[in-house]
Amino acid sequence: MNARPVGIHDISFATTHYVLDHVVLAQQHGVDADKFHFGLGQDAMSIAAADEDIVTMAAAAAAPIIERHGVEHLRTVLLATESGIDQAKSAGLYLHSLLGLPTAARVVELKQACYGATAALQFAMALITVDPSQRVLVIATDIAKYELGTAAEPTQGAAAVAMLVTADPAILRLEPVSGVYAKDIMDFWRPNYRTAAVVDGKSSVLAYLEAIEGAWQDYRDRGGRKLTEFTQFCYHQPFTKMAYKAHRHLLDSQGFTPDPQTVEAAVSDSTGYNRTIGNSYTASLYLGLAAALDGHADLSGRPIALVSYGSGCVAEFFGGTVVDGYRDQLRTAANGNAITRRKPIDYDRYRALHEAELPSDGRRHVLPEETSGPFRLAAISEHKRIYETRTEHIELTEIN
Ligand code: CAA
Repeated sequence: MNARPVGIHDISFATTHYVLDHVVLAQQHGVDADKFHFGLGQDAMSIAAADEDIVTMAAAAAAPIIERHGVEHLRTVLLATESGIDQAKSAGLYLHSLLGLPTAARVVELKQACYGATAALQFAMALITVDPSQRVLVIATDIAKYELGTAAEPTQGAAAVAMLVTADPAILRLEPVSGVYAKDIMDFWRPNYRTAAVVDGKSSVLAYLEAIEGAWQDYRDRGGRKLTEFTQFCYHQPFTKMAYKAHRHLLDSQGFTPDPQTVEAAVSDSTGYNRTIGNSYTASLYLGLAAALDGHADLSGRPIALVSYGSGCVAEFFGGTVVDGYRDQLRTAANGNAITRRKPIDYDRYRALHEAELPSDGRRHVLPEETSGPFRLAAISEHKRIYETRTEHIELTEIN
């Protein structure tokens, strides 16, 4: 048995340079904006600039954690993504040069749609349970992309969340009991030759509800807490209304009456960031966690539930207890700034970015400088992505 608690010691997120307002998208779709605002619970979505990708977002999310805690005892980097940039090399390895990570480390990429970061968190807990001196950097980073003009288009978005997982964490003690559920279904997938996901939207919503109920049953069968013990519930949020649907479903399935006030109190804080960032696949649940922690309620000593779903499908239900003094560790102002600093774009600019494809001819292509963040994708050359770090003197680092 592990005598020391394990969990989230620090959490930081980054999103994109651009944002598309859902009023603009609603006009383009010829629908009432209320459908997106209230029907889906989305106000806007983050849009990656031409010189941003999952690596620049991941590096921007992780950099403040490395700055605060250094790299001592950091022996593992687990990067989860559904929007991988390479079939062989882990995107986490680019962070080695961008962030100065130690060479004495294992670095891997995990994939299972939006669920991958939850697997990473569980694996991190297991590693630290074996050796509590270790620290693990878990990163969830994704750009959600669907075809233009489809019902799924308003549920795009992009973000990265980085979490430092350690023994004796300062923010959230994760509990060892967890409930899991897996089933081979085709509700959402993305074959290697496509940049946009294929989705059966309505069936994906039903699959999500069935899967989280299954994970909850397994959680209870394994001796987990009662539903009523949790103060807040952080759900995977492909669109924020889904968190409300999920919580109503879970309450209903357990014989509770899902009255609106109870549901609102349980999930609304966790939706604050996702409402304006949109779906960020692996990062979405953990943006929900960041929003709940940054919310008005004092969660000190309170158990909160984390409910993960990745199409295809895998779900997991687990809990954690918020550590006293957690607010001192939070990055609430920086999180707000990551959202407000985004530049609004019109539909034509969004469409051009959506349709743009990175060149694949192996020649050198310099990308337009659009962003102002700490890391950017500067060029593609010989099939390699070349990243730039904005330090005092900007240097161009070619990644092997
Ligand atoms: N005012 C207020 N509400 C309105 C409205 C208006 N003027 N017009 C419509 N609405 C409401 C509808 O009543 C509906 O509400 P309910 O869900 O409560 O019934 C809601 O807006 C959505 O409208 P539709 O039912 O017409 O649905 P849609 O055709 O727009 O599609 C969607 C919605 C299926 C979610 C689609 O956006 C989609 O395919 N998204 C991608 C798939 C997805 O996100 N699935 C979620 C589960 S899978 C998962 O979680 C993994 C992942 O990240 C992808």
